[in-house]
Amino acid sequence: MFYNKIKLMETVLSGIRPTGNLHLGNYFGALKNFIAMQETDNCYFFIADYHSLTTHPNPKDLAGNVRQILIEYLAAGLDPEKSTIYVQSDVPEVAELYLFLNMNAYIGELERCTSFKDKIRQQSENINAGLLTYPTLMAADILIHRATKVPVGKDQQPHLEMTRNFAQRFNRMYEVDYFPEPQAYNFGKELVKIPGLNGSGKMGKSEGEGNAIYLADEPEAIRKKVMRAVTDSGPTEPNQEKPEAIQNLFQLMSVVSKPETVQFFNEQYNTCLIRYGDMKKQLAEDMIAFVQPFSEKIKEISANDAYLKKVMQMGKEKAQANASKTIKDVREIIGFINS
Ligand code: TRP
Repeated sequence: MFYNKIKLMETVLSGIRPTGNLHLGNYFGALKNFIAMQETDNCYFFIADYHSLTTHPNPKDLAGNVRQILIEYLAAGLDPEKSTIYVQSDVPEVAELYLFLNMNAYIGELERCTSFKDKIRQQSENINAGLLTYPTLMAADILIHRATKVPVGKDQQPHLEMTRNFAQRFNRMYEVDYFPEPQAYNFGKELVKIPGLNGSGKMGKSEGEGNAIYLADEPEAIRKKVMRAVTDSGPTEPNQEKPEAIQNLFQLMSVVSKPETVQFFNEQYNTCLIRYGDMKKQLAEDMIAFVQPFSEKIKEISANDAYLKKVMQMGKEKAQANASKTIKDVREIIGFINS
């Protein structure tokens, strides 16, 4: 039994972009799974600050964003004792592997990448080489720890495919079986999609002001946002199908409220008695109760610089220990003389 567990332990890795605060969509869509994986796998989670340079942040913002995202992930349950949690730029071995991989990455395949084409459109005034080689940096992130499982959303699948190509190419080129081919991975069942509050689509900070509930939100902010959520004039026939905006409110309720609460409002809807104001009040209070332990933890960790420093140092050491082994091997495979 114990033997099995050790044998099954795989290396999981995921990167987190240091942009914006954590919201319920991030929590239920990704983070909750990271937290579960910590119990069963050898996990690496890092803050992708090298990646963020493609948009030229100013130094103060960069430092603040990295700190904030680290605080919020720790508050949400990432555990530095169970996982290796680190800042990408603390492990410059990643940059060295990126350099090596770039030598075998072809301009054509990088230019064809959908995310690059999107960026060209979004930031046409700043199409830098870092954007073009985003997939090789991401491959370096993954391959530096020889990770086999990568929990990422659908939008990242093409990058993962490219990582597999780079890994295969390296192995073929040097006639080795060194890099494993990482696979996309979700822990357990399908991820829950969290809708936003403005009637359509998913929760996200780019979807407009008031659309997302953040783990750091104060109760009053949550009340305001929920009370302003989009609804309609109400059902006119029993058991009528719910329009998207209403479906979304029920979906949000199903993740933060008790099943009886959801059932109660469902029945109210189906009998055309529902008052959306009441439903929103209940939803707001349940969200506040859900978010409160997180926001308190965020405040607590924010005030503890010594702890944050310790976490970063620990992550750096653990990540570097493994990364430097990989770099040593790779240098040897490529034909550098390791001194
Ligand atoms: N590109 C990912 C995103 O935009 C972040 C990321 C960077 C990442 N490097 C990674 C994810 C390595 C998984 C593995 O969300």
